[in-house]
Amino acid sequence: MELIIAANWKMHKTVAETGDFCRFIRQSETLFTGVEVLICPPFTALATASAALKGSSIKLGAQNMHWERQGAFTGEIAAPMLLALGVEYVIIGHSERRHLMGEDDNQIRQKVKTALESGLKPILCVGETEKEREQGLTEAVIEKQLAGALEGLESGKISDLIVAYEPVWAIGTGKAASTADAESAAASICRYFLSNFGEKKVVGLRIQYGGSVKADNIGPYMVLPSVQGALVGGASLEANTFSALIQAARKAVIS
Ligand code: 13P
Repeated sequence: MELIIAANWKMHKTVAETGDFCRFIRQSETLFTGVEVLICPPFTALATASAALKGSSIKLGAQNMHWERQGAFTGEIAAPMLLALGVEYVIIGHSERRHLMGEDDNQIRQKVKTALESGLKPILCVGETEKEREQGLTEAVIEKQLAGALEGLESGKISDLIVAYEPVWAIGTGKAASTADAESAAASICRYFLSNFGEKKVVGLRIQYGGSVKADNIGPYMVLPSVQGALVGGASLEANTFSALIQAARKAVIS
């Protein structure tokens, strides 16, 4: 399965900064062959990124969306608005939304369902806090988050789904999970899919690792049996750093 590497810019970059980044990164796209690359800017910069990436193989993602298609939801953004800008992917249930904005499993489930029904590919984020990890609850937390987000979903839709395993304690801390921990968590995601939807390979599911990923540590994650990509925060903010990271990932899988 093709690697998928996504840049989650979070609340960074103006329109001008986004245009500069996209024009720069697309110059290196021939070096990304075999890796699916996508950029998830803030909503305000999606139109600029879409125009600047037009005709390139680099894809566009959003960082969130509402589950309704329209309505009286001040400050929210709906799936059709994203699709109209050429957005293909949408991050759902990022830990910053779960923990800082109070997003719950019920909201996340509705978002995943609407995204899939609308033709957007959700990147569903799961992961345990440091305290849960210390209590040995990693697998139980992941399973609860998956069940909460995917209950009632038809297996036919799963091939459009990406799951990102992002342990909360590894995000923005410089303290990346060990490859053994990342594989163990990703393997537990595979087991969940196997018992609920069928063989992961058969359904086409891809799993990303996220949390302090950089060019110099990405390689070993990309060759783990259960991991097929990365969700990158800090190291995706500079075009040359992000380009080096993608090339390092590619090198790891082809060598
Ligand atoms: P960092 O790469 O900055 O740790 O962020 C990871 C993340 O939250 C991506 O969604």
